[in-house]
Amino acid sequence: MSLVPPNIAALTPYVPGKPIEEVEREYGISHVAKLASNENALGPSPRAVAAAREACGKAHLYPDGSAYVLRRALAEKLRVSPEEVVLGHGSNELIELLVRTFICPGEEVLTSAQTFVCYRLAAQAHGCACVEAPMKDRAYDLDAIAARLSPRTKLVFLANPDNPTGTWFGAAALERFLARVPPSVLVVLDEAYVEFADAPGFLDGVEVYRRHPNVVALRTFSKAYGLAGLRIGYGVASPEVVGWLDRVRAPFNTSLVAQEAAVAALADAAHLEASLALARAGRPFLAEGLAALGGQVLPSQANFVFVDFPGRNGGQDFEALLRRGVVVRPMAGYGFPSAQRITVGLRAENEKCLAAVREVLGK
Ligand SMILES: Cc1ncc(COP(=O)(O)O)c(C=O)c1O
Repeated sequence: MSLVPPNIAALTPYVPGKPIEEVEREYGISHVAKLASNENALGPSPRAVAAAREACGKAHLYPDGSAYVLRRALAEKLRVSPEEVVLGHGSNELIELLVRTFICPGEEVLTSAQTFVCYRLAAQAHGCACVEAPMKDRAYDLDAIAARLSPRTKLVFLANPDNPTGTWFGAAALERFLARVPPSVLVVLDEAYVEFADAPGFLDGVEVYRRHPNVVALRTFSKAYGLAGLRIGYGVASPEVVGWLDRVRAPFNTSLVAQEAAVAALADAAHLEASLALARAGRPFLAEGLAALGGQVLPSQANFVFVDFPGRNGGQDFEALLRRGVVVRPMAGYGFPSAQRITVGLRAENEKCLAAVREVLGK
């Protein structure tokens, strides 16, 4: 008899970006540029670090399970009520929580193929089907997703901008899509990278939620706010949806340190602006540099670029870049065997990355 049910036995573990220490140990190198996990190259806000330090002095206490202060701060910023805000141990926890809370036996998750893998992993861990519509031109095809809506569909996950491609869809396309979705189906707009977007009129999931109460907007402190290591993210949804999620989540799912750091990070507009400016300037720098080396670069609104070098072995290129102290994310696991996803880093890191790519390509 198997120790675990078949859906658990079929799980393949999530493969994270290689930690810097591991690369340095394995390859005997130092000064590694980690451009693999879409973290904030500037680091956390100094104000968030100070708040986290101070919070450590209260580490013997349980956190406020309702995260009163942080929920109020987010509600005020987003012009919603605190009852419309739910917090998670990273937005990743909220993805899993949505599946566990709302999927009844026989119901399905629906998303795009080749998108953020955690939607499928969450569905699989829960033992429900994850239906995936093919991409079109390496971007979400909302018509193809809509065509796969069925009476069994309960949750739709849409990443905007998408990870790993960085591509995005607009407000008009989403409205057409939502018109085809029954109100009993929850549509999750995963906006982990939305702060980095600067295309005019870029879709705002919280605004969409105001018009469509079956929409859930997910955001995170891991990217633009530089707090990935503290694990804190949030969702904006109807009080009913938030109420159910709050019942299912662990009572103290976000730590006291993370809550207080997040409040301080929200108040540090200057650090956020600097983080966004860095990513928005580095994005075209990397994209143009990679294109000049023959890469096919997708348009991106996130803090990373997706580049394909058709005909090359992406796994070998990844290894060759590692040996040169540059950690990127190979895309074979997403069905893009010759592509890499590269996080926008500091200017010197971006330059180091381009120099390493040039060397690996023998140019
Ligand atoms: C699209 C997307 N959603 C959600 C997450 C989860 O982020 P976190 O759990 O750190 O908030 C990520 C992280 O890479 C992501 O790329």
